[in-house]
Amino acid sequence: MKTTERKLSRNYDRAAWFYEASSNIYSTGQIKVAKLSQLRFMQPGQSILYLGVGAGEDACEAAKQGLKVTCLDISQGMLNRLQRKLDRAGVDAELICGNAFDHCRFGEYDAVATNFFLNCFKRPMMREMMQHALGLVRPGGRFFVADVSPPQGSWPARLFNIAYSKWAMAAFWIMRLVPWHENYNYADELRQLGIQVDEVSNFRLAGFGPIMFQSVAATKLANLTSSVPKPHLGVPNVAPEVLDRRSSGVNHGS
Ligand SMILES: C[S@@+](CC[C@H](N)C(=O)[O-])C[C@H]1O[C@@H](n2cnc3c(N)ncnc32)[C@H](O)[C@@H]1O
Repeated sequence: MKTTERKLSRNYDRAAWFYEASSNIYSTGQIKVAKLSQLRFMQPGQSILYLGVGAGEDACEAAKQGLKVTCLDISQGMLNRLQRKLDRAGVDAELICGNAFDHCRFGEYDAVATNFFLNCFKRPMMREMMQHALGLVRPGGRFFVADVSPPQGSWPARLFNIAYSKWAMAAFWIMRLVPWHENYNYADELRQLGIQVDEVSNFRLAGFGPIMFQSVAATKLANLTSSVPKPHLGVPNVAPEVLDRRSSGVNHGS
């Protein structure tokens, strides 16, 4: 592992014990609901890869529903928590510790999920990671992303979305887990790559408040030609902007 990768994995190792519980408190349970909503697109026996799986409440549920689950994360601490969860549930999954950019099983998975993972990157690297993840989906397969929603609705609702998401981002930024960036509109990003967006589901705080979270389900059409995302062949340094706040660009050097 490169030094930047080691530092990032150490930062996430430290957060592993509280990450999932705190995100469920913060979201009044809606983060979990958003992630699990993706399972209705999947059939038992299909393969799914969770990139940046974290402690994997979604991956564990997928395994319980009979999917062939592969989980990848740069933090061994996160994967240890996930392994305990899988053991308690009596189900299996393949766990891989490493940088998602190094995972090159292109076209192998029926689905790839990138839940609350793409927001670990500034926009240029987020786009690279999205393209890399799409490269891992088989033609005709699914791509999922659950994350913070872009601001939408009335102006008070938009204002609330920005304020509520930014204080969480500030806390994560202080812990050197994410760089500072705007909330991404993943559906638009996917459409720009020629990917078919099947459904955008919105999730409201406490089920009735402002829209705060979103789950996007997309299909990488089998006949996608000119705009097929190219798999990432190089291995960029991992999210250096998280670790070096003075850097504004993407550093692909090691
Ligand atoms: C914000 S957490 C989200 C975890 C989980 N998907 C969830 O929804 O709770 C982001 C996860 O991505 C992992 N991660 C960050 N950068 C990574 C990279 N380059 N390769 C693999 N995993 C990475 C972190 O270790 C962390 O577990």
